[in-house]
Amino acid sequence: MGKADIESRTFRRVMARFPTGVTVVAARNAQGEPYGLTVNSFTSVSLDPPLVLVCIDRKAHSHDPLLASDTFAVSILAAHQADIAARFADAPSGERFRDLPWESGPNGDPILKGAAAWVACSVWQSHGAGDHTILVGRVESLGDGDAEALVFHRSRYGTVSP
Ligand SMILES: Cc1cc2nc3c(=O)[nH]c(=O)nc-3n(C[C@H](O)[C@H](O)[C@H](O)COP(=O)(O)O)c2cc1C
Repeated sequence: MGKADIESRTFRRVMARFPTGVTVVAARNAQGEPYGLTVNSFTSVSLDPPLVLVCIDRKAHSHDPLLASDTFAVSILAAHQADIAARFADAPSGERFRDLPWESGPNGDPILKGAAAWVACSVWQSHGAGDHTILVGRVESLGDGDAEALVFHRSRYGTVSP
């Protein structure tokens, strides 16, 4: 139970005991092409103004474009979208949207069809935090559907109800 020299492996294992939802954070590049990545660090922050945050790995290809972007969208994945979560974590970035139904949100950023819910954000602030950047977005528009959300717990996908 020491506090010094915490191994990454141990940190990951302990944090994996905290169940989260799973999202795809997406925007468009300078050519207008969609890009995005799987993110479970999504959290609501403030009600007034309505703020959310995501933590983006500084090594992610999406990091610099997202930081340079004025806007981004967060699709909260539905229980049946575990394959999409895996794709947006593992597939080459140019292939992630291929043959996938999505639509442009109010700010033009990609929202995945069938998602449990979505928020479209303008970039409010960013904060360096170790090897990640905390990206705070102001929610400009949002919506939800009927689908149950996907859950990530102990490195496995699951659902809220058994
Ligand atoms: C369930 C799950 C949650 C993830 N959450 C995050 C996250 O919060 N922040 C992050 O930077 N990467 C996260 N990742 C990893 C990225 O999705 C992955 O590294 C991705 O390939 C990055 O894409 P890019 O390099 O094209 O930006 C997560 C992966 C999985 C499977």
